Amino acid sequence: MKKLIYSLFALSLSLGAMAQGDNYVQDYTKFQGLALTPPMGWNSWNKFACNVDENMVRQMADAMVSTGMKDAGYTYINIDDCWHGDRDAKGFIHPDAKRFPSGMKALADYVHSKGLKLGIYSDAGSQTCGGRPGSRGYEFQDALTYAEWGIDYLKYDWCNTEGLKAEGAYKTITAALKKAGHPIVLSICEWGTDKPWDWGQNVGHLWRTTGDIYNCFDCIKDHGTWKAWGVMQILDKQEGLRQFAGPGHWNDPDMLEVGNGALTPGEDRAHFTMWAMIAAPLIAGNDLRSMSKETVEVLTNKEVIAINQDKLGVQGFKLNGADGLETWVKPLANGDWAIAFLNRSDKAQKINFDWAKQNIKDDIAKLETSFSTTTYTIKNVWDKKDKGAATTKKAFVGEVASHDVIVLRLTKKK
Ligand code: GLA
Repeated sequence: MKKLIYSLFALSLSLGAMAQGDNYVQDYTKFQGLALTPPMGWNSWNKFACNVDENMVRQMADAMVSTGMKDAGYTYINIDDCWHGDRDAKGFIHPDAKRFPSGMKALADYVHSKGLKLGIYSDAGSQTCGGRPGSRGYEFQDALTYAEWGIDYLKYDWCNTEGLKAEGAYKTITAALKKAGHPIVLSICEWGTDKPWDWGQNVGHLWRTTGDIYNCFDCIKDHGTWKAWGVMQILDKQEGLRQFAGPGHWNDPDMLEVGNGALTPGEDRAHFTMWAMIAAPLIAGNDLRSMSKETVEVLTNKEVIAINQDKLGVQGFKLNGADGLETWVKPLANGDWAIAFLNRSDKAQKINFDWAKQNIKDDIAKLETSFSTTTYTIKNVWDKKDKGAATTKKAFVGEVASHDVIVLRLTKKK
């Protein structure tokens, strides 16, 4: 009798599940085939914080096209925190009607008409970091809303998440996005607290590895309960993470401060270069409408971008460093290598890199140079005059200014 009751109970459970369709079988994996190279775009936060509105976003899309950034590979126009209005009686989120009077769908249509993609921001907790409505408890509704609007990228933050576990919370939003059915890049933003590199590969396409970037080359900003990190501090915090990155799943050392005024031209170059070397997402954080010529030149340097966007998708690493002069390398497709000399010190430093005495080995990617048997041509990628005539037959001799960088691309000689 007991057995019969149990089997009737089991039968009614499974009939119940069937009656609900497949609602209870969630797919907790991200959309595949997206962000096969590190995402490139723009985000509002570093420059504008909460001051976002639809006119500015449209102008940013226009500027991404007119400045040549789109042609250089930038695709995403990402609205960060504070676009939100309230939830309606049914729980659906709406944008702030004063700042976004035409609505998000119209804005997405506009951005798409420029051949670009639109990104948005939410938070796994009850409220965003800026105090706007978070997605906690509304994940499936929010995902449906974003799909209806045609949103292509979601940055999902981690403020006000008391009692939540990061892995579960991010899997929930991924399942919701999957169910909504519109392919979308998921940017996990929990600052590396719960080691997203351990569980994030199938959940999101990129994950922040640190707290927020601070617009300074080499300093720390103490906010009391949290700290923001300068460019060099963030770079150092990437150590030990490179094996977790690859096509479709990237370490995210936060958005760029290039062109935001605090860095010297050399520091802007060094910041951009190092983000390229570590296969970081290249998300500009400046005002694209009023960039100096120098800023445009940094952000659109095609050869540096090619190092970042290389299809092997291997994160570069520090080969050695002494007295503030560091040598970083990144293996590239077709046996090419990028090599960057980063001068963190406050004086110019001489470089004399004798290839014959070096063999560069990447134990994780299992790739190696072969300077003894193969000659590579050398292109100094920030030097406009360099035509790439030098080869690894002769040592590379140069001088790198303080807080600046020299980057070489080595290509196997045919
Ligand atoms: C957090 C994130 C930032 C930004 C702000 C918005 O601090 O790490 O990148 O999105 O929230 O409030």
